[in-house]
Amino acid sequence: MVPKSRPTRRPSAGSKRFISEKAERFTESVIRDMTRQAHLYGAINLAQGFPDFPAPAEIKRAAQQAIAADVNQYAITWGAKSFRQAIAAKMKKWQGLEIDPEVEITVCCGSTEAMIASLLAITNAGDEIVIFEPFYENYGPDAILSDARPRFVTLHPPADPAGEWRFDEHELRAAFGPQTKAIILNTPNNPTGKVFTRAELEFIRELCLEFGALAITDEIYEHILYDGARHISIAALDGMRERTITINGMSKTYSVTGWRVGWAVASPALTNAIRKVHDFLTVGAPAPLQEAGATALGLSDPYYQELAAAYRVRRDRLLPALQQAGFKTFIPRGAYYIMTDISPFGFPDDVSFAQHLVRDIGVASVPGSSFYSRPELGAHQVRFAFCKTDATLDEAGRRLLKARSR
Ligand SMILES: Cc1ncc(COP(=O)(O)O)c(C=O)c1O
Repeated sequence: MVPKSRPTRRPSAGSKRFISEKAERFTESVIRDMTRQAHLYGAINLAQGFPDFPAPAEIKRAAQQAIAADVNQYAITWGAKSFRQAIAAKMKKWQGLEIDPEVEITVCCGSTEAMIASLLAITNAGDEIVIFEPFYENYGPDAILSDARPRFVTLHPPADPAGEWRFDEHELRAAFGPQTKAIILNTPNNPTGKVFTRAELEFIRELCLEFGALAITDEIYEHILYDGARHISIAALDGMRERTITINGMSKTYSVTGWRVGWAVASPALTNAIRKVHDFLTVGAPAPLQEAGATALGLSDPYYQELAAAYRVRRDRLLPALQQAGFKTFIPRGAYYIMTDISPFGFPDDVSFAQHLVRDIGVASVPGSSFYSRPELGAHQVRFAFCKTDATLDEAGRRLLKARSR
């Protein structure tokens, strides 16, 4: 007689067994969750950093023309030649760096992909990556996905709101060691608005040379600068050309966050590794939008001056509105976010305050804790984005006044 086999218990589709340990170790993006909440409650979205005004007409026209001309198939996996040439020309003009577009540029699906592809290309399990905090929230999950161990170094807020966020040199040095593979830099910085000075970058350069580490620098806000701040690429400092991966993209400079076009610039050896990872992650970035990118990167100086001037007006519109509403504000020198101290409102933490704002006041912000390795570090901060029209910013300001008289 054939023994009856006992039915095997199959785990249900919802079972934890199917979820990787890596995926368990981070949450969904808080920023993008706040955007969903903004839709749900009909709130003004000052959470996510996307412009609510049109992209430049000539760039949109270039994209339309590329599609009409049937640039609709895969581009070369590491990027269309015309676009890579435009990236190299722009780096030469703005940073004085000679880049070989044939072997030193990888075009990716946004700087988001450029960052994770770079980390996957350089890290082995247990390698340490130094990250300043508060940090752009992707860097945490990026470190987990690439098996790297993050070493966080605090950017301390200024005591005087008009001052600058700073790192302590001893704390930064202490984070470097024999396992350090790289430091992630983001200048101009999201969320603090800090623009790293030449002296600070020189100090980081010294550490990279001493410990044989790379710098991965996210420069996506390079043209959004205020109050005379100057953007300096660490790749342009002595000895750093070969040990820097410079990441950038079209999203912020050309107001096209939905196009998903970014790039990584690195030495040929590093680029070779990044290109391999990129190929198997996404094959390539959208072909017609890379053609339009070549037009965008060729725009003349006034475009960039007007971009910074327009953001300055927006910054100076939201800052007083936040102050009037009772926030302590930190003045950004670059990028398009205002980090605030919410202590005056007397809420237990940033998450409950941000919930109150989105549900009861009608303005979505990002709780500060999402920018730190330990939530308590951001428990008294929330961030507002000001890449919005005057009308949006003014209405947000009117609504936020109600937060005061709760
Ligand atoms: C510092 C920083 N890096 C990267 C990104 C994402 O860029 P991309 O749209 O090119 O993926 C953002 C978006 O907010 C950002 O703030």
